[in-house]
Amino acid sequence: MKDKLQQLLEKATQALADSNLIDEVEALRVRFLGRKGEITTLLKTLGTLPADQRPAMGQLANEIKEKLHNRFEEARQKLAQTARQQQMASGTIDITLPGRQQFHGHTHPTSLVIDDITSIFTRMGFNIARGPEVELDYYNFEALNIPKDHPARQMQDTFYVSEDVVLRTHTSPMQIRVMEKQEPPVFVIVPGKVYRCDSDLTHTPMFHQVEGLMVDTRITFSDLKGVLTDFLHLFFNPKVKVRFRPSYFPFTEPSAEVDIACVICHGKGCRVCSHTGWLEILGCGMVDPAVYKFVNYDPEKVSGFAFGMGVERLAMLRYGIDDLRLFFGNDIRFLQQF
Ligand code: PHE
Repeated sequence: MKDKLQQLLEKATQALADSNLIDEVEALRVRFLGRKGEITTLLKTLGTLPADQRPAMGQLANEIKEKLHNRFEEARQKLAQTARQQQMASGTIDITLPGRQQFHGHTHPTSLVIDDITSIFTRMGFNIARGPEVELDYYNFEALNIPKDHPARQMQDTFYVSEDVVLRTHTSPMQIRVMEKQEPPVFVIVPGKVYRCDSDLTHTPMFHQVEGLMVDTRITFSDLKGVLTDFLHLFFNPKVKVRFRPSYFPFTEPSAEVDIACVICHGKGCRVCSHTGWLEILGCGMVDPAVYKFVNYDPEKVSGFAFGMGVERLAMLRYGIDDLRLFFGNDIRFLQQF
């Protein structure tokens, strides 16, 4: 048996020396060391030996198996390396070839502006709230002091889902939903989509607004002016001129619209500002006591202000975009610039 083992070792080593393909080496390994291989088969006869010879023979067999195993492994690695070198030399991999360019997505300008607005207000201490786009008439109108026959309903070109369900025409219904759920102090902003049945060069049926609401004891109009002026200075630039102009909303009293000096002509007058020198930026006002009634706040004890702004409009002014349709066209050449 000892001789047979030695013979097998030599036979295998010889065969290994003659083979120069990885597949051949693997075939040899199976032939000699595999479960039905020559050495394994020989070892099955170990039991026929006299008992006193078995340990020594077993040990020898193991040594030979180990030796062979190492030689096969060595040969396999050598061949693999040669193959790699040959492949490199033959130039099938040109490592000087530039890699394929990766295309990265870009944040949509609408999202960029929403992120910016929310970041400024959260730094001032506001929380972010979100609410449904399919809204009850009650929240969109009724509780905002706009009853059924109110002329302000015509101003808002409403998409009706049913008699008392609408697509929200503004983010203001969230004022009610937030106050319904919590006691003052309330500091929230509400970014989101709103819908109006209106479509032309400067109007799209869906656009974005950010609503703001601040209610506590002793909140005054000067808080409103301070917060919004700070916001506009942070959003545009610290020097931009801001003016508050009296206006009307059913859910605020007094109400105002806020203008900034035209970012294009800086107040001299141009097409963008219709030669007024000013750009209307947002609507705001002190929350009307009638609104507090709907959420069981005591108007004698609390006061506050609300504001709402159009996101696409802010984005157009910030980035100098002159066509609203670009926001909704998904043109990659436009979006890639942000
Ligand atoms: N909701 C009003 C609009 O869409 C804006 C607004 C919000 C005005 C809050 C005052 C207070 O035009």
